[in-house]
Amino acid sequence: MGFHQKHLLGIEHLRPEEITAILDLADQYVDLNRREMKHSDALTGLTQINMFFENSTRTQASFELAGKRLGADVMNMAMQASSIKKGETLIDTALTLNAMHPDLLVVRHPHSGAVDLLAQKVNCAVLNAGDGKHEHPTQALLDALTIRRAKGRLHRLNIAICGDIAHSRVARSNLILLGKMENRVRLIGPPTLMPSQIGEFGVEVYEDMNEGLKDVDVVMMLRLQRERMDGGFIPSEREYYHRYGLDAAKLANAKDDAIVMHPGPMNRGVEIDGEIADDINRSVIQEQVEMGVAVRMAAMDLLARNLRASRAAQPVEA
Ligand code: NCD
Repeated sequence: MGFHQKHLLGIEHLRPEEITAILDLADQYVDLNRREMKHSDALTGLTQINMFFENSTRTQASFELAGKRLGADVMNMAMQASSIKKGETLIDTALTLNAMHPDLLVVRHPHSGAVDLLAQKVNCAVLNAGDGKHEHPTQALLDALTIRRAKGRLHRLNIAICGDIAHSRVARSNLILLGKMENRVRLIGPPTLMPSQIGEFGVEVYEDMNEGLKDVDVVMMLRLQRERMDGGFIPSEREYYHRYGLDAAKLANAKDDAIVMHPGPMNRGVEIDGEIADDINRSVIQEQVEMGVAVRMAAMDLLARNLRASRAAQPVEA
């Protein structure tokens, strides 16, 4: 199969063949998801626990659906009501859950690195559903699948990632994935929203949207992440929309068949014009959501295969 990971913590750990293995299997799950009978037994008998320490709509919903369609027992921990609020540490909560023998743990946490730390303490497969500003691997994979299906390939494309790069784990995971698959990635945004270590990524950086969007195949917009900002990163939302909001005039710089993406949730009229977002000839935002379920099914299926293989190879404890 070519996928050798125990956990899915970040794109940085994946080889290009492993990325392709996930996407190939996800393509099959897209077909399954379009049928009336959407069930498979890939995770039958396994327990999946979703722990979201940050708000989420589509990521949590799609992980839940993905697990259910594959036959797992899925539990969503209500983290707002959990003992974390009583002062229990992340690790203690994880150890408690671990004692219930989960097989797959899906975790979203506001701190970068928290999910990696947790993975060291439990003996099941851990999937990172977003950790701080660090990584969001399943988002980058679903974006990759969306691009591959729309463009027919996932290499040698010109891709612009636009907006609030500095606060975005989506941008970081995408940058790593698209680079590994040999695409040309450009970042567009105001200097205040560019990460300081941007030079390390070896990508082109533009301050001007019209210039940056010239001849791109893919326009990936990002949400202005107010909750991660602690000061004046932008003059005003109006001014931001004027300079960086994706509208028809700015999009006209891209290739005629360029696709428009957004991970959601969207701020219409801030980073993207509502009409562009809804234009079924340009926008693949709904496809991204559809691919999200399939990619998460594929990732959990592959991790579960490795988990079963490693358990089968281990002597049974007395
Ligand atoms: C992203 C996230 O949470 O990082 N959303 C998502 O998973 N669909 C992006 C965002 O919140 O802007």
